[in-house]
Amino acid sequence: MSEPSPDARDDLTTRRLEAIERRLYELAVAGNPFLTEAAQHIIAAGGKRFRPQLVALCSQFGGEVDEDALVGAACVVELTHVASLYHDDVMDEAALRRGAPSANARYGNSVAILVGDYLFAKASSTVARLGLDYVLLQAETFARLVHGQIAETRGPAEGEDPIEHHLSVLTDKTGSLIAAAARFGGMVAGSSEEVLTTLTQFGEEIGIVFQLADDLIDITSDVTGKTPGTDLREGVPTLATLMLRQSTDPADLALLERIDGDLSTDEALSQALDALRANAVIEKARAEVRRRAEVARGFVHQLPAGEARHQLDELCDVVVERLS
Ligand code: IPE
Ligand code: IPE
Ligand code: MG
Ligand code: MG
Repeated sequence: MSEPSPDARDDLTTRRLEAIERRLYELAVAGNPFLTEAAQHIIAAGGKRFRPQLVALCSQFGGEVDEDALVGAACVVELTHVASLYHDDVMDEAALRRGAPSANARYGNSVAILVGDYLFAKASSTVARLGLDYVLLQAETFARLVHGQIAETRGPAEGEDPIEHHLSVLTDKTGSLIAAAARFGGMVAGSSEEVLTTLTQFGEEIGIVFQLADDLIDITSDVTGKTPGTDLREGVPTLATLMLRQSTDPADLALLERIDGDLSTDEALSQALDALRANAVIEKARAEVRRRAEVARGFVHQLPAGEARHQLDELCDVVVERLS
């Protein structure tokens, strides 16, 4: 049989993403109208669906795709992601998510936590139907995500390098789930062990790049659908602020003092953001994101050549283009 044309393949990917979208909404239906509404709230608010797309893209490196498993696995990663957002917004006291009021802002912290738990439960029942390998990967990934969130909250140990610690936090809280998305894609297509390993390595690295880019955009952009400067206000370290802490320049020290001061008013936050945006550390952090995107691309180039590899190659550019 000849290879399908790229256009035909795009149609196939579109149909798969539509099927995933339908299943996501179905999975968020509960026996109680209020729980259904609260569970669908953040799903309906939008989002890039980056992880389901990665499952679909990575399913092109094997043989015949199990369509039902593809839709199921993509829902497992997106539901896990969305559930972690319900909980993360409680932890970060975030008011906005995906351009809508966060679940905690709309329903209160207790409901947001419980709905997050409900979505984790739906991810669990969905993954159970896919088989033990999937369940194990999902459980290990979830554990790493929690490790990452806890490590971020606790901060580096005495004597630990803060940037090393931060990068290990990102690897666990974000890289793990994006790596699982890439691996699930390979698994639903019966990819070889070698391909699965490369997809996982690629996913973890592009996941770190994705989070580093997100953290920079939190500082530099006003159109993320989230409140800009939430990390600054909550005192959550990011690469840019950690790089700033390495500086001995008096102007940088003055900026740090401002960042570490009271940012509870919108005016104070906006001034701190403006000053940080103008600092050279932003470009330095961007350069590090671009460097790591090339590391991710290196894994892509270990995969079999063809249209699917080309699409992952382009994804490395897309993640970095969000920076500008
Ligand atoms: C937000 O994830 C949290 C991070 C890991 C950076 P996304 O940027 O994928 O959020 P949505 O799904 O598009 O809303
Ligand atoms: C994302 O963390 C949450 C997880 C990866 C579990 P962040 O707090 O950095 O992400 P945003 O900025 O709220 O989306
Ligand atoms: Mg957050
Ligand atoms: Mg957070």
